[in-house]
Amino acid sequence: MAAIPADVARTIIDPFAYADGGRVDEAFTWLRANAPLEQAQPDGFDPFWVVTRHADIKEVERQNELFHNGDRSTVLTTIEADRKVRSMMGGSPHLVRSLVQMDNPDHFAYRRLTQGEFMPQNLRRLEARIREIAAGFVDRMCQMGGRCDFARDVAFLYPLHVVMELIGVPESDEPRMLKLTQELFGSADPDLNRTGEAVTDVDQGVDTIQSVVMDFMAYFNAMTEDRRARPRQDLASVIANGEIAGAPLGHLEAMSYYIIAATAGHDTTSSTTAGALWALAERPDQYARLREDPALIAGLIEESIRWVTPVKHFMRTATADAELAGRRIAKGDWLMLSYPSGNRDEAVFDHPFAFRIDRTPNRHIAFGYGAHICLGQHLARMEMRILWEEFLKRVRSVELDGEPRRMAASFVCGPKAVPIRFTLN
Ligand code: HEM
Repeated sequence: MAAIPADVARTIIDPFAYADGGRVDEAFTWLRANAPLEQAQPDGFDPFWVVTRHADIKEVERQNELFHNGDRSTVLTTIEADRKVRSMMGGSPHLVRSLVQMDNPDHFAYRRLTQGEFMPQNLRRLEARIREIAAGFVDRMCQMGGRCDFARDVAFLYPLHVVMELIGVPESDEPRMLKLTQELFGSADPDLNRTGEAVTDVDQGVDTIQSVVMDFMAYFNAMTEDRRARPRQDLASVIANGEIAGAPLGHLEAMSYYIIAATAGHDTTSSTTAGALWALAERPDQYARLREDPALIAGLIEESIRWVTPVKHFMRTATADAELAGRRIAKGDWLMLSYPSGNRDEAVFDHPFAFRIDRTPNRHIAFGYGAHICLGQHLARMEMRILWEEFLKRVRSVELDGEPRRMAASFVCGPKAVPIRFTLN
């Protein structure tokens, strides 16, 4: 097996390679063929295994006691940034402590607190309200004179509104939540981050992210106090009044719970929605088929989640020496689960670089796998199904009206502009 060449290692960690799309796909295709499970050590980083194959990603995620989330940073980070975070957080490698940074027994207990809310039987109650919201956004788009930026005008706003209503954040605060989310996930993108500049300095980079986290915490701290005094039927009340082993949630844990719902709960779905329309605008035949047969919407949803794969990686840490796909992993080793690579794995997907709404089966791994599998997966699917049902009823044709652009980020990202022209029925 070949070692990972320096230029390939640099590409898969480069936020701008993800904005480019092709560059990162090429690097992962090379890795799957030549070094599917090897260590990378770009300058300034501790070595980490790059897990590129679908089967190996599942194998790591399945063994959540052997491969922990919380022992080291769950997101790829430089040695210097890691040192700085640990010095700020009393030795912990994490700025927040959400489900993502937890292992058992805490993970199980904290997940159980809200898992029921996100189950299909509970979500069904929201169907009519979500349809009203979706129809409202489609209406608004239909009044835009046949042209819009679908990312900015629809895709960013619709899942945001749904999840904020679920959490209990008032509509007037949604722009603030969107801005904070984009500053967090877009911290490497000068168009989106708080400074408006390229990040070159580690101290400044960590401080900027920390200041976004602090703003979120100040907001949700006030919300916790409110919901403790006046509980309502919303997720914020569940978190504010929830108990773990007979005691209220820890402060950091409660704040982190809100933050993950208020960020991962819309940005990922927005990216997928924007990416779906981008793909359809370039493939009028598939758009026409969807109009004729809305039963194909389920396939569109799975294929667009695979296609966009908005979560680009999560890290795991081995808790003991282990063997994975014939390689020796040592206790303490860091592993990068490369979801975009798993979702283009030739061993699992025929013509992985083709966008096919009728792809069956479509065993994508964009929601992860195992104990940490995305808590919001059913909500995300439901939101997208309802939006496309409403959209296809009204919009006869769509085409691109300029060059779409992707956000620059190596953790969570998707399109940031999808200019379209459209006709109505
Ligand atoms: C297309 C949309 C979405 C995608 C692609 C996505 C992807 C992911 C991925 C890859 C993970 C990590 C899974 C793992 O480690 O195995 C995750 C975890 C999570 N997601 Fe999503 N997500 C989406 C939508 C949502 C929504 C709508 C919510 C709503 C609140 C949400 C909340 C969460 C939470 C709380 C976790 C942590 C779960 C845990 O660690 O136990 N996500 N998601």
